[in-house]
Amino acid sequence: MIAPIKKDSISLRVAVTDRCQLRCLYCMPPGGLTLCNHHDILSYEEIITFVSNLQYNYNVDKVRITGGDPLVRKNIEQLIQKLHDINIPDIGITTNGQLLGKKAQVLKDSELKRVNVSLDSLSDSTFKKLTRCGTLAHTLNGIEKAKAVGLQPIKLNTVVLKGINDNEVADILNYALENELTPRFLELMPVGTLSYDFDKHFFSTSDTIKLLTDDFELSPIKKETGSNCASYHAKNKNGKKGIVGFISPYSHPFCNGCRRLRLSSNGHISGCLALNNRTYVRELLKPSPTASRDLKSCIEQAMSLKRASKEFTIPESMVSIGG
Ligand code: 5AD
Ligand code: SF4
Repeated sequence: MIAPIKKDSISLRVAVTDRCQLRCLYCMPPGGLTLCNHHDILSYEEIITFVSNLQYNYNVDKVRITGGDPLVRKNIEQLIQKLHDINIPDIGITTNGQLLGKKAQVLKDSELKRVNVSLDSLSDSTFKKLTRCGTLAHTLNGIEKAKAVGLQPIKLNTVVLKGINDNEVADILNYALENELTPRFLELMPVGTLSYDFDKHFFSTSDTIKLLTDDFELSPIKKETGSNCASYHAKNKNGKKGIVGFISPYSHPFCNGCRRLRLSSNGHISGCLALNNRTYVRELLKPSPTASRDLKSCIEQAMSLKRASKEFTIPESMVSIGG
């Protein structure tokens, strides 16, 4: 078979589980969501079949492993190692950090490069209130271990919520700069459990930046096409410098040039986080004479379905879409 000429790059997000030990206010109801049966979750072999097919037709420049919390899935390092073995150049993971302290070394050994850790508060009580059952010290320990083993970069994701953690943005930026981490402040999206209380808790990027300007020097960095993040050089009062990002899916959607594709834990693909539009592809991961071609056309269709305006038509949480 002649290999096709690859021109388009794709950045893939693979949700490896819908399970999570936390119940963040904006993501899950207190009792959790209805979970998939274990046999409905893609195996690592099926995920690798999918990624290999994608790689055959596109430049897969990045694979980010998400969930749920990907570290609750058994032997996640084996999937990372397999992705590395098929030459995925950049492998990252997004985690709540609760298990990161225990897993950092095996993750590093499996050739994981980067890690994004959700950190919405530096106060024990607010962290507990926000995650409902998380322990701040575990996430902070996870960040420390990730740094110690050389995972790089370590980015922090903070969803800013009015009346809950908006008073902490300067503390979080200081913590990040002092520890050489890359913080990103995210706007709440009207998906998941807080979508019903969206106006009460939405806090815009421009309001977050206003809160930071007294304590930090901020200067914008030119945005890369396809990036979902507006980055700034930041310097605090101790002279510590770093980069801070602002992700504004609601006030300034980042759809222009978006090359992201999502694979959910139970085998659906979607080209857009905001749209209620997905295609079940698990059946196409079994060997058959037409599977590879059919999968390619599903991927092409998914990549053509990006939102055209600021709409959010998806009612579900990030866990079911694949974070
Ligand atoms: N709005 C904004 N961010 C969200 N996340 C999950 N749900 C939402 C939402 N409704 C974020 C988490 C995590 C990442 C995977 O997605 O904070 O950092
Ligand atoms: Fe778990 Fe992430 Fe959802 Fe929080 S936002 S409940 S950490 S999947």
